[in-house]
Amino acid sequence: MEYETPLFFRVMSYASEADRDVIDMVSGNPDWEPPAALRSGLREYADREPSAFQYPPSEGLRELREEIAARRGVDADQVVVTNGAGEANYLAMARALERDRGEEVVLTDPVYPYYPGKTTMLGGTQTFVAVDDEGRLEPSDVRAAASEETAAIVVNTPNNPTGAVYDGETMRELVAIAEECDAILVSDEVYDHFDLSGRFESALSIESDHRIVTNAFSKSMAITGFRVGYAIFPSDLVVDAKSRHMLVNVAGSRPAQYAVLRALRETEPDYYERNRDLLRGRIETFTGALDAAGAEYTTPRGSFYVMARFDGYPGTLENVYRLIDEAGVAGMPGDAFGESRSEWFRFALVTPRVETAAERLSTRFA
Ligand SMILES: Cc1ncc(COP(=O)(O)O)c(C=O)c1O
Repeated sequence: MEYETPLFFRVMSYASEADRDVIDMVSGNPDWEPPAALRSGLREYADREPSAFQYPPSEGLRELREEIAARRGVDADQVVVTNGAGEANYLAMARALERDRGEEVVLTDPVYPYYPGKTTMLGGTQTFVAVDDEGRLEPSDVRAAASEETAAIVVNTPNNPTGAVYDGETMRELVAIAEECDAILVSDEVYDHFDLSGRFESALSIESDHRIVTNAFSKSMAITGFRVGYAIFPSDLVVDAKSRHMLVNVAGSRPAQYAVLRALRETEPDYYERNRDLLRGRIETFTGALDAAGAEYTTPRGSFYVMARFDGYPGTLENVYRLIDEAGVAGMPGDAFGESRSEWFRFALVTPRVETAAERLSTRFA
């Protein structure tokens, strides 16, 4: 099997070697503060007894699993604490493929690139369903693509890279399709706290033993380096997922889980609201500049990415490098996310320098 180096590593290393100041809008690392309780939880942890530095339960700290379960309205037994949403997606997709109901994984185009990568790694095959210009996924297209061969349908809402947020009706239809095909809907909801539309609905709100919900604190608490996420499985799928998690990782990080637990318990809703407001402001600034540059772009309803297309300057890897050299702004090439957006760039609005980046782009293209 050939494993490809994720493209964003290549873009980041080109940007870091550039002979000029470059604004990094490549990957989704929040630049804002984590919750105060997270920092204090971590500090406090440093002074704990040696036993607190040893293996936690493989499936995650019990109190953390209970806290997550209470918030999500599920049984704590269904919750596996993972190394971020990345591992949660891996476990979910592995579980779906292990049911031996088929090898096909239905994905969207554009797609978060780790899903097709994991599909290949797990021995599955990909079928892509195109979304519309605004990132909307038509359930009837998923129904037409899905079949007896379908093991999983993997979706992400709020979406990276389109910024789309799927409404309750779409989620209900997706779960129904998974049930009809005896497949598993994997709903990656890692950007749920960045729903700017008020229309987000978790797949958890639909009772079914054909859906797995994945999530993490990486984005919501601005801690992509902590590696704490979780997956919520139907009861009949959870036991083997815990075994796989244990065989791959032994366990997750105990101090990180502890600090997340503290932050979950002590962080008020206004922390999340402030971060959404910050993003709203950045979206306005950035899309305003794209208007001035005469670009076509997506206005995110959630997550923190903007896709843009500049006339005569397609978002190829070569032009991503060129934009770094010519404007000092680093984004991602659209074809990292599938064929349909190969002309587009993706910019992550997770830098305090969005305004400067916007000015640079409007100067370059106006
Ligand atoms: C859609 C999506 N899922 C999962 C992840 C990975 O999340 P984590 O850092 O929690 O593993 C990302 C990170 O950018 C993402 O955009």
